[in-house]
Amino acid sequence: MQYRLLGPEKISISVIGLGTWAIGGGDWKFGWGDQDESQAIAAIVRAVELGINWIDTAAIYGEGRSEVLVAKAMKAIPAANRPLLATKCGRVALGNGEIGKCLRRESVIAECEASLKRLNVDCIDLYQMHWPEPDEEIEEGWQTLVELKQQGKVRHIGVSNHSVSQMKRLQAIHPITSLQPPYSMIARDIENEILPFCEQQQIGVICYSPMGKGLLTGSFTAERAASLGEKDHRSRDPRFHSPQLEINLAFVDTLRRLASSLNWSVSDVAIAWTLRHSALTAAIVGARSPQQIEQTATAGDRVLNAESLKIIADAITTRDQQLAEIGGAAKPRV
Ligand SMILES: NC(=O)c1ccc[n+]([C@@H]2O[C@H](COP(=O)([O-])OP(=O)(O)OC[C@H]3O[C@@H](n4cnc5c(N)ncnc54)[C@H](OP(=O)(O)O)[C@@H]3O)[C@@H](O)[C@H]2O)c1
Repeated sequence: MQYRLLGPEKISISVIGLGTWAIGGGDWKFGWGDQDESQAIAAIVRAVELGINWIDTAAIYGEGRSEVLVAKAMKAIPAANRPLLATKCGRVALGNGEIGKCLRRESVIAECEASLKRLNVDCIDLYQMHWPEPDEEIEEGWQTLVELKQQGKVRHIGVSNHSVSQMKRLQAIHPITSLQPPYSMIARDIENEILPFCEQQQIGVICYSPMGKGLLTGSFTAERAASLGEKDHRSRDPRFHSPQLEINLAFVDTLRRLASSLNWSVSDVAIAWTLRHSALTAAIVGARSPQQIEQTATAGDRVLNAESLKIIADAITTRDQQLAEIGGAAKPRV
């Protein structure tokens, strides 16, 4: 497993972080279907054994369930080996199945206290603003994160899903340790402005959904996508539905051939492709079982050569053309 330095504080983190959105289960608006609790805990423990030294979670994942499972896994890991814990605020369960967006001071403080309790820690290693919403509250939210840092309740503070102009507004208040944006071969919006800005400002970049929520693992077929249940939010994601799905599956076929020629997995190719970018510090990789993280943590030692990068670039161009022919890709919300 390779390690890189995150943000201005130069925190040493593994290039693969474990993402715990999916283990929040299926009983909430953005669920991933039913999740076995012991498998989730075993996935976290295995990730740490494989050299992963940080876990990403959020208060809203499973409306608190993901953080509770992270805390349970920590009990099974010797104190000296415990990973850094990153969590997020700003998305609030309203109690009726809906999710509110709030960055007001009292709300962020209450969220932080609840996360500290669920995670069973005195201090959160990285506390992130989950979304820059509502836009008019981001300064108040950021100022509150600074206050929590000064109080020692959180160690470092970061943002997620923010634009360059929003990051500039926050940098004027306090330096940003990290940005958590979506990034994969099928979600490249951040390449033009956001990645160069972060690199220039020394803001660490820890990207999410590097395997396109599982699409770029090679485990999806048209049949599997059609059978995604109501409790799995991917059943409502246009990338898992015709006409985008056929284009995405053809794209994955190219990755499969490349992976096979390298003797890698398709996920290795997908994750290593994100990590090739000089602005990237690490990729957050979701896993629902120890087997899944065993198969994807290997990407932490993979480097794509120029020939492979060219094959991927050509496949991306073909996919972009095919998407343009069907009128462009409707974007998912997360
Ligand atoms: N800040 C934000 O707004 C935001 C948004 C999204 C994600 N995130 C963070 O980033 C993390 C990663 O993103 P993600 O979970 O969306 O997507 P991802 O890492 O691209 O995909 C993860 C999913 O791929 C499937 N998978 C994993 N390993 C596999 C393997 N070896 N073989 C086959 N399938 C495999 C699993 O789902 P199945 O087995 O169900 O197919 C898993 O849940 C999240 O957990 C979360 O911590 C943050």
